[in-house]
Amino acid sequence: MQIYALVLLTLAGLSSFAIADPAAPSNARTAGQLFRRYCVSCHGNDGKAKTSKGRFSHARDLTDPQWHADVSDERIFNSIMNGRDTGGNMPAFGNKINEKEIDSLVTFVRGLKG
Ligand code: HEC
Repeated sequence: MQIYALVLLTLAGLSSFAIADPAAPSNARTAGQLFRRYCVSCHGNDGKAKTSKGRFSHARDLTDPQWHADVSDERIFNSIMNGRDTGGNMPAFGNKINEKEIDSLVTFVRGLKG
C-alpha cells in the first residue's frame, strides 16, 4: 500500500513537471536581449536616442539623470506596457513582452542613467 502511494506521488510529480516544462527557463529573455530586440532602434545601444528613428519619433534620452530623478518605476513600467505619446510616439509593448520581462526592463533602464 505504501509503495503504491509512493508510485502515485512520483507519477504526479513527473507529470506536473512535464506540463510545466515548455514554459521553462530556456525561453526566458534577459533584459539586455529584450532591449536590443525591441528598444535599440529608437533609444540606441547607449539609451541616448540618437538613432534616426529615435530623432524622428522624439524618443527620450534614457540616460538623463534629471528624468531619472523625476520618474517613478511605476511610470516607466506603464510607459513600456501601454506606450506613451505626450511628446513623442512610444509604442506599447504589453502584447509582446510579459510583465515580468517589463519589470526586468525597468531595472535595465535604471541602469542606463548617466
Ligand atoms: C518607435 C520608437 C521607440 C521604440 C521602439 C521604443 N521607444 Fe521608448 N520612447 C519612444 C518615444 C518617442 C518616447 C517619448 C514618449 C513621450 O514622452 O511622449 C519614449 C519614451 C520612453 C521612456 C520614458 C517614458 C516616460 O514615462 O517618461 C521609456 C522608459 C522608454 N521609452 C523605454 C523603452 C523601452 C524599454 C523600449 C523597448 C521595449 C522602448 N522604449 C522602445 C520611442 C520608442
